[in-house]
Order: sequence, then structure tokens, then C-alpha cells
Amino acid sequence: PLQAVIFDLDGVIADTAVVHDAAWRKLATEIGLPFDRQLGERLKGVDRLGSLEILLEGAGRSYSQQEKLALSDRKNDYYREQIERFGPEQLLPGAHEAIASVRAAGLKVGLASASRNAPLLLERMGIAGLFDYIVDAANIQRSKPDPEIFLAAAAGLGVPPAACLGVEDAAAGIASIHAAGMAAVGIGQPAALAQAETVLSGLDAFRIDDFISSEEPWLAVAG
Ligand code: G6P
Ligand code: MG
Repeated sequence: PLQAVIFDLDGVIADTAVVHDAAWRKLATEIGLPFDRQLGERLKGVDRLGSLEILLEGAGRSYSQQEKLALSDRKNDYYREQIERFGPEQLLPGAHEAIASVRAAGLKVGLASASRNAPLLLERMGIAGLFDYIVDAANIQRSKPDPEIFLAAAAGLGVPPAACLGVEDAAAGIASIHAAGMAAVGIGQPAALAQAETVLSGLDAFRIDDFISSEEPWLAVAG
């Protein structure tokens, strides 16, 4: 039976997917690199340097390690300028209620975010205390779609992966959840999240009862 729900942060709980996207777009424009919607979609869920590597695929030359660090710092400065002002208003609709409902059902709640800004964001939005375990992104070696981050969350919660449900807005995140042996709930447009067992428009449509009614999370999700 289901024992834990592990949430992604950006674009699932916090209205920050658009902020990351705008910061990358600004950087791309400044250094003369192409940026469109599909590229933005590919960056979702991918860590900072991994995202930069994807962005630089559009460059006509190679960049030194030093240049890459400077560019990723610059993107992070743009991002931080925005989230410094964030508060509980930037929680996506239904996010607080969804997390609380998982706790109220007696399940554990985990966070699997690749963002090094996650602790700051959770503090600013006032929800740091709602999680039983938060993965430290700085300790993760391999970016989503690798399963490492969801496996680390399950281990931190002390729950077998097969008893966990993962919630993600990025295709790379759904792939990471599946590679970890968990069922996935996609948040967003079905077209971008075709692999997920269930796709919801947002956490305001999340009902924990739909997922705990079966002995087998995969079946419960598929049903
Ligand atoms: C999340 C976001 C990505 C972001 C990554 C790293 O996964 O979906 O867009 O690149 O975190 O965030 P950071 O705040 O560490 O740059
Ligand atoms: Mg996300």
C-alpha cells in the first residue's frame, strides 16, 4: 500500500517554473542564443549546470568551465532577484492543502527538488515544516531523469520506492520517478507528460483518497 508521496517543488508546489524559464530566457537573449518553448520545456527539472549545457547546445563555440560557472551564476542571480520577494502567495493553488491531506492520511511527505534554492523558497513560502524529509540537492550526483533524487527521498523517508507516489511537472521528473520504481502523477498539460499514470492540471485537483484506496499504488493510479 501507499506509504509516502514525494513532491517536486518548482511548477508543482511553487509558481517558479515560469521564473526559472524567464531567467534562462534573459540570459540566452543577452548572450545571443536561441530560446523557445520546447527548449524551456527541456530545462524543467534539470539542475543548473545541466540546464546550461542544454542551452549551450545552440552555441556555435565551446565554453570554458570558468565561463560556464559565470553564466550559471548569472542565471541564478536573475532567479534570486525574483524569489527574494516571494511569500505564501506564490504557492500554487491547492498545494498547501494537498500536502496537508497526505499528512492527515497518515502518509509521509517528501520533497525531491533539484534546486539549490529549495530551502530558501520553502522558508519564504512558510511550508518547510510540512515535509518529513527534504533531499539536499547539493548531495545529488545525477540530475533527473536519473532516479537518484527520488530514491534518496524514499530512503530518507524510510519507505520502499514501490510504496511511493511521485508528483512532477517535468518530463525528466516523470522519467526519474519511473526509473526509481514509483508511480507518477504529472502536473500540467497531458501532451508534455504522456508517460505519467495520471495527469492533473494542478494540485487543486489532487485527492489523496484516489491513491490510497488500493493495495497497489500503480493500480490505484492507473484506475
Ligand atoms: C528545478 C527546476 C529547474 C532548475 C533546477 C535547479 O529542477 O525545475 O528549472 O534548473 O531546479 O535549480 P537551482 O535553483 O539550483 O538553479
Ligand atoms: Mg518541476
